Amino acid sequence: MSFSTIALTGSVPERHAQLLEQARALLHGEHDRIANAANLASLVYHALPDLNWVGFYFFDGIELVVGPFQGMPACVRIPLTKGVCGAAATTRQTQRVDDVDAFPGHIACDSASKSEVVVPLFGVDGELIGVFDIDSPLLSRFSVEDQEGLENIATAYLESL
Ligand code: SME
Repeated sequence: MSFSTIALTGSVPERHAQLLEQARALLHGEHDRIANAANLASLVYHALPDLNWVGFYFFDGIELVVGPFQGMPACVRIPLTKGVCGAAATTRQTQRVDDVDAFPGHIACDSASKSEVVVPLFGVDGELIGVFDIDSPLLSRFSVEDQEGLENIATAYLESL
């Protein structure tokens, strides 16, 4: 199968709606969590401007372990008590951070990262699966509309499993 992306156009919400449609098409009929995470990381990384890292961390029962991603090599293991990723996992709420250097406990995997969104991923029984992490080299890169768009991508991922 070949997959062709169409350049996103219009307002930020319109762009996210188009991206979500592409994500759903990409995930259609496939349930493998690694394959779907890998393709989503690639799709988002290439579709949205001003990103330097997009990927997944999976919960191994103790901590978060890096999964499929695009960008520079990353920290392999993140304790639930650490970083923006740990905060998303333990508060069960998306973290949208305008300035990562001002976030207590932020883990600088790539010093280029300046702002970040981390969406926690939970299964149907509420169990922690992992997090979806998106980083930008720009301060305040992510608006509320971006957060909603990325949460919708995360939901599409969870529904594909
Ligand atoms: N900055 C994250 C760590 C993961 S990297 O951004 C890929 C954090 O503080 O949790």
